[in-house]
Amino acid sequence: MSEPATPRHVAIIMDGNGRWAKNKRLPRAMGHREGGEAVRRTVKACARLGVECLTIYAFSSENWKREEEEIADLMKLMRRFIEANLGDMVEQGVRLKIIGDYSAFDPDIVEQLEDALERTKDGSRTLAVALNYGSQQEIARAAAKAARQGDVTVASIEANLDTADLPPLDLLIRTSGEVRLSNFLLWQAAYAEMIFMDVLWPDFGEEHLEAALDEFAQRERRYGGR
Ligand code: IPE
Ligand code: IPE
Ligand code: MG
Repeated sequence: MSEPATPRHVAIIMDGNGRWAKNKRLPRAMGHREGGEAVRRTVKACARLGVECLTIYAFSSENWKREEEEIADLMKLMRRFIEANLGDMVEQGVRLKIIGDYSAFDPDIVEQLEDALERTKDGSRTLAVALNYGSQQEIARAAAKAARQGDVTVASIEANLDTADLPPLDLLIRTSGEVRLSNFLLWQAAYAEMIFMDVLWPDFGEEHLEAALDEFAQRERRYGGR
């Protein structure tokens, strides 16, 4: 079966903000801030390159283990990021989607996110942001829900995942050179292609996305067939 050369759904583990800042002898928060700029660039690049859905790992359920100060910096940046980018998202037809349990965040952020979800709901492309997200927790929640509905199957679990309304995951990218999934999209990655890149997330640009898409286009997906 021939596959389209451009992935419909790309997910990114945006890693390396801390190392980027450390290399430049800057505070970690500066790495996260520049990471936000990389998100802006990547959303634009996806539109230009024809990627319909981008899912980004912004805060994991395990990231609460970090120091209070870093978590507070991340929350501040999240507020600012939404304020600065919501208008562009609406204008560019980007629908915001959140995966993970964002109700754990401060009430003002929850409110801001809900407003953003509402205002972008008619967008034709999707930016899915993983917030307080853990894939094992997501699968457990989905399985429990399927059980309550009386039918635990691959299809019924899948239908209850946070990503149920997104296209199947085609390509998963992780930056920073680490080669692990860190509890991200474990179920969805079953037959996704994976690309691990050495670039630190704040340095990620359109050229890196293009390189990943070029590599994706060369891959032969078999899904267990031959
Ligand atoms: C990724 O960068 C961003 C978040 C996890 C929020 P890191 O902060 O993990 O950067 P490194 O891995 O320490 O370089
Ligand atoms: C994964 O990166 C989470 C995000 C990118 C938000 P981490 O930096 O938290 O992952 P580990 O701890 O290196 O596995
Ligand atoms: Mg990291």
